[in-house]
Amino acid sequence: MKSKSLVSISDYTKEEYLKILNLAAEFEANPVQEILKGFVVATLFFEPSTRTRLSFESAVNRLGGRILGFSDAGTTSSTKGETLRDTILTVSNYADLIVMRHPVEGGARFASEISPVPIVNAGDGANQHPSQTLLDLYSIRKTQGRLDNLNIFMIGDLKYGRTVHSLLQALSHFNTTFYFISPDELKMPDEYKMFLDNLGLKYYEYKEFTDIVDKADIIYMTRVQKERFSDPIEYEKTKNAYVLRANMLENTKPKMKVLHPLPRVNEIHLDVDDHESAYYFEQAQNGVYTRQAIISSILGVK
Ligand code: CP
Repeated sequence: MKSKSLVSISDYTKEEYLKILNLAAEFEANPVQEILKGFVVATLFFEPSTRTRLSFESAVNRLGGRILGFSDAGTTSSTKGETLRDTILTVSNYADLIVMRHPVEGGARFASEISPVPIVNAGDGANQHPSQTLLDLYSIRKTQGRLDNLNIFMIGDLKYGRTVHSLLQALSHFNTTFYFISPDELKMPDEYKMFLDNLGLKYYEYKEFTDIVDKADIIYMTRVQKERFSDPIEYEKTKNAYVLRANMLENTKPKMKVLHPLPRVNEIHLDVDDHESAYYFEQAQNGVYTRQAIISSILGVK
């Protein structure tokens, strides 16, 4: 993994996922180490973020490295017309690794092809969010004790939600059965269903889930991605499609957990926060350990 960019979750093998997860467990046990002393990591966020940017920065800080970058592209020379190519070629002089979020699908792949330093994709449009996927796998394994043969419910915006696209690809290595629950307008795109068909993996599509919730090992809720809609009326039609409430979790498996990449809007009611199944804030915490593992692997210090 040394010097290898992480652009799509499919850039890594199953063995590489497991190596990252095992390393993340080591960091969870011992999160403060001086192994990145002398390294500089750049975080270039062309789109808003709370968890991804701050957990990457926390990860680097706890490992003794330095951070530079921006959280608002409006303060950078891209507003003067600088191209992404020139920004990457410039920042690669200042940092050993670049973490980048960009609204254009394929933006991170493009950056990785021209950058002399590794790129970690922190989200490119509706396409991929691979570091989120690794922390999701970590959270699933930690709560279920395994990754194999689980029933994973994905609920909400399966069309524009990049986290479910990356997670589906990763879980395809673990004989997952998928339950896709969405309104018609926000169904899982055909390309991902064809991907599962080709692997002979099972998936089911529903519009409601209350009658089948007892089958779930994981409920992975997603926000309707307002920023990806070209038509605001379409967003208004679907934004309240699902609101998970605590009383909907009465018949679930004892170990079942509710995950959400966050931010949430209103798709998980606040009354779920006190339910034993709620795991989304611990999931966000797992992001620090997982990102420590990703960065230290790519920089070759672990
Ligand atoms: N999960 C996630 O990507 O959150 P942020 O948009 O806050 O980074």
